[in-house]
Amino acid sequence: MIQQPKGKLGILVPGMGAVASTFMAGVIAVNKGISLPIGSVTQMGRIRLGKRTENRNPLIKDFAPLAQLGDIVFGGWDIFEDNMYESATNAKVLDKSLIDQIKPELEAIKPMKAVFDKTYVKNIDGPNVKMGKSKMELAEAVMEDIRQFKEKNGCDRLVMVWCGSTEVYTQASDVHSSIEKLEEGLRNSDPNIPPSMIYAYAAVKMGIPYANGAPNLSADVPAMVDLAKQTKTPICGKDFKTGQTLMKTILAPGLKARSLGIRGWFSTNILGNRDGEVLDDPDSFKTKEVSKLGVLEQILQPEQNPELYGNLYHKVRINYYPPHGDNKEGWDNIDIFGWLGYGMQIKIDFLCRDSILAAPIVLDLALFLDLAKRAELFGIQEWLSFYWKSPQAAPGLPPQNDIFLQNQKLLNTLRHLMGEELITHLGMDYYY
Ligand SMILES: NC(=O)c1ccc[n+]([C@@H]2O[C@H](COP(=O)([O-])OP(=O)(O)OC[C@H]3O[C@@H](n4cnc5c(N)ncnc54)[C@H](O)[C@@H]3O)[C@@H](O)[C@H]2O)c1
Repeated sequence: MIQQPKGKLGILVPGMGAVASTFMAGVIAVNKGISLPIGSVTQMGRIRLGKRTENRNPLIKDFAPLAQLGDIVFGGWDIFEDNMYESATNAKVLDKSLIDQIKPELEAIKPMKAVFDKTYVKNIDGPNVKMGKSKMELAEAVMEDIRQFKEKNGCDRLVMVWCGSTEVYTQASDVHSSIEKLEEGLRNSDPNIPPSMIYAYAAVKMGIPYANGAPNLSADVPAMVDLAKQTKTPICGKDFKTGQTLMKTILAPGLKARSLGIRGWFSTNILGNRDGEVLDDPDSFKTKEVSKLGVLEQILQPEQNPELYGNLYHKVRINYYPPHGDNKEGWDNIDIFGWLGYGMQIKIDFLCRDSILAAPIVLDLALFLDLAKRAELFGIQEWLSFYWKSPQAAPGLPPQNDIFLQNQKLLNTLRHLMGEELITHLGMDYYY
């Protein structure tokens, strides 16, 4: 039994830069009838129900009991004091004429003081930062912010979506192995606990669903997964699947489905926003690189298909190039081979807009996680792998990166939650 979405849903965002401001401005513009929520599967996508002959294809938002866009309230934290009007203006993603139409609403959204430590994000620094004697004290301060936000805004439910910077590469270690060790580590300010994990801890401890838009470890450690189970909280991550990786997970399954071989896949990006500046630091880039590299291997399974993918050379590069701003350019050179081993090439030059692709993902994740919580789903939400570059999976299970399988899983989970028949596309044609 899914509880109905009564009252207001607070969406709390640590990191209120380009993605966050584009997301918030977008929802406000949609609510005012200025724009359409294009790219949002919850708002624009349809779901087929029953047999093909039944012709039932409702919009997902009319099928599943999701929160209404008009019931959303925004909040968050940033190391800079800019309100969301200033942040959206600085990000230069949206036209000034659009932002000016929703200026009062954006100005009213102001960041709370952040939990931040420059050791984990080297290329930026800002004044709007909390002080605390230990990491546990900082986590408690975040929980207090959340309680006050909820009360002040009269929210019924909350979700948290990390839209903060990519932190330096951290691997799971002993302090992340159990809830007790993590809590001990927070009290001792263990260096293996980055700020993103402090926010994630605060949210999950309070039973607030948490999604991780960056490749940071955050909630992807045994202690946080255990905590999510203990507090019955849905979690998911990592790293929004937007430009180049979106293309990769669309194309690679298709090539594999036709048993075409791949010799090499060289991907390079140039971008000039603050995200690009942060990723210019080799330690933050390493976190992103790991997140981007796993995708092809998981989809192509070279160990099972050695003749086709056994010698695949995969390289990912990101270069900070200020003139491009948020308009990232992602180039791919793909060396494929076909019948009798004859080579061919595919070139992709995706002139994308990073935050325009990420914003609808933030919305969908917030709405689906809120649904998951009301449906009493908790722990890792693998049915939301669709949105991630590096989907968090249950221990021992490989993540699913193929976008078509991910899409099927998402839709079938919705059908299951709503008591509809699952669609496998395996039945006789005249039935399906
Ligand atoms: N835009 C995309 O397509 C895309 C895709 C995948 C992942 N991401 C990730 O999403 C995140 C946001 O991207 P963006 O383009 O908005 O970057 P951005 O630099 O514009 O915004 C990030 C914000 O996070 C803030 N921040 C950093 N550490 C913080 C902390 N500890 N607490 C609170 N705030 C903190 C920064 O001050 C900044 O304002 C990045 O990690 C990026 O790698 C973006």
